[in-house]
Amino acid sequence: MIPFSPPRIDDKIIEEVVDALQSGWITTGPKTKRFEKELTEYVGCRKTVCLNSGTAGMELMLSWFGVGPGDEVIVPSYTYCATANVVVHTGATPIMCDVKEDFNIDVSKLEGLITEKTKVIIPVDIAGLPVDYDELNELVRKKSIRSKFTPSTEVQELLGRIMILADGAHSIGAKYKGKMSGTLADATAFSFHAVKNLTTAEGGAIALNLPYRFDPERMYADLCTKALHGQTKDAFAKVQKGGWRYDVVEAGYKYNMTDILASIGLVELERYESDTLKKRQHIYDRYNQLLAQYDWAWTPEFDDETKQSNHHLYLLRIKDVTEHQRNLIIYEIYEQDVSVNVHYQPLPMLSFYKHRGYNIDDYPQAFKNYTQEISLPIYYDLSDEDIETVVKAVVVAVEKVLSKQEA
Ligand SMILES: Cc1ncc(COP(=O)(O)O)c(C=O)c1O
Repeated sequence: MIPFSPPRIDDKIIEEVVDALQSGWITTGPKTKRFEKELTEYVGCRKTVCLNSGTAGMELMLSWFGVGPGDEVIVPSYTYCATANVVVHTGATPIMCDVKEDFNIDVSKLEGLITEKTKVIIPVDIAGLPVDYDELNELVRKKSIRSKFTPSTEVQELLGRIMILADGAHSIGAKYKGKMSGTLADATAFSFHAVKNLTTAEGGAIALNLPYRFDPERMYADLCTKALHGQTKDAFAKVQKGGWRYDVVEAGYKYNMTDILASIGLVELERYESDTLKKRQHIYDRYNQLLAQYDWAWTPEFDDETKQSNHHLYLLRIKDVTEHQRNLIIYEIYEQDVSVNVHYQPLPMLSFYKHRGYNIDDYPQAFKNYTQEISLPIYYDLSDEDIETVVKAVVVAVEKVLSKQEA
């Protein structure tokens, strides 16, 4: 069976994890601090806070910004549930925006959704393709939009506009007009979950890029405190000589990254540009070449003059199929021992959101993208031979299902 997205676990990773285990320090400590520093350098953002998930990153930033009941946060209708769930946790209301053919939020539809209650927009760089950041950043700075903004906390007052909190779960290493994901929004939440381009098993980070009136060092300290129960010292600081006393300044969360996770991340980051991204690009190119001869294959957008994806997911679409046909195609692919996936079932189709009154008919492009989409395996150890096996399985499956339709 060709798996969908296994992690790359080799001797280097194992050695670094063993090093953490043998160091006697396994929770947040020197390796996490080094990983944060190296991430900041790689991304080019102002500061990075490592956490135990990408979800934690979004929750932390929403809490820091003071989002709560009565507020609205705009999210795309086409994303993983975490993007909207974090909004629900704060007591605010997720407002869903339809997406474009490229799977990303339709910025042209945002203005009509912004109200006096809107505090944050969470765009998602689906599959690692950056959203239209120039248009988005211009929009929240527009006079008519700024004048609607109604701050209710000190930091909201200081920002003076809607915050852009990018869900960059897919997009570390992606670029928009030459600028790295992590520097394109006020803050970006990366995910280092096991299936992501750069993994720490579970894990994530917040890349901070707020205007300089928000002191990055102060923000880093505040977010670390918030991520560890509101404690003014973390475990590493507490074990230093005479460092036992600490205070708790708020009922914070428990979101810190451990040094065991950071040790995986350090190895992953070191080889990310030179090796991981190159391999993923190769897989993409090979899929594109092999699928180019089939009229029914709609290969994914991943590069244009402004956007450079990090090839996180290969979102193939089968032109003009119904949802039922797409499902049959997936079944036939699995019959040939190849794992595929669907990214994503739009949020309004999921019970929780459906029961809250969101209706998929209001998001026609999200529905259309979903019905035709099949994600193909993409991971470091996928060989050229495997790629051919995958494409062969897809071709056999599609032709079988489409020929039934014609019969
Ligand atoms: C688009 C998107 N957002 C958020 C997340 C959440 O990331 P994590 O699992 O690190 O919390 C994911 C993870 O799959 C994701 O794909």
